[in-house]
Amino acid sequence: MKNNASHITETMIEMIKVSKLYPPDVIALRNISLSISNGEMFFIIGMSGAGKTTLLKLISSMELPTNGLIEVSGLAIHQLKGYKLARLRQKIGVAYQDFKLLTDRTAAENIAISMEVSYKKPQIIRKRVKDLLAQLDLSDKHDTITGELSRGSSSALHWQGPSPIPPP
Ligand SMILES: Nc1ncnc2c1ncn2[C@@H]1O[C@H](COP(=O)(O)OP(=O)(O)O)[C@@H](O)[C@H]1O
Ligand SMILES: [Mg+2]
Repeated sequence: MKNNASHITETMIEMIKVSKLYPPDVIALRNISLSISNGEMFFIIGMSGAGKTTLLKLISSMELPTNGLIEVSGLAIHQLKGYKLARLRQKIGVAYQDFKLLTDRTAAENIAISMEVSYKKPQIIRKRVKDLLAQLDLSDKHDTITGELSRGSSSALHWQGPSPIPPP
């Protein structure tokens, strides 16, 4: 019998002896190794400047490590290029403390932006946007400029909205 629980303990993120140097001389991370399983809640705490943001940038492949190996979902991210790297980045969601919504566009437009890079047909995007807004109970905000939304609605929308696609 197949063990359905096996995927629960699958390793999602693995870092082995990772260092990050910002030239000329800032060692942001030195020899970090960690392993995070599927479904695990993992908290990173530390003083300002300890390297927390750098760690997240490495995992989301917005920055490359100076040394060491990073695997996300079994893929060594430094070996990925072009299309495969873009696909992986699309799967990694980053929720920022300061909402990255475009405040001069509507709720629907904010959601659509993140899809325009990955889907071709506008009608598919329109349907998906409507479905997501319905799931968030924000259907009535479809055409509301996000700068006019409440903080709670902005926060909910942010989870569905654009995560920045970093440059290659
Ligand atoms: N783009 C950068 N260029 C140069 N130094 C940086 C850059 N980003 C962060 N640093 C430096 O790297 C160290 C770790 O920063 P950071 O990862 O932002 O820490 P934290 O998020 O824990 O406050 C700090 O010394 C910071 O000044
Ligand atoms: Mg930080």
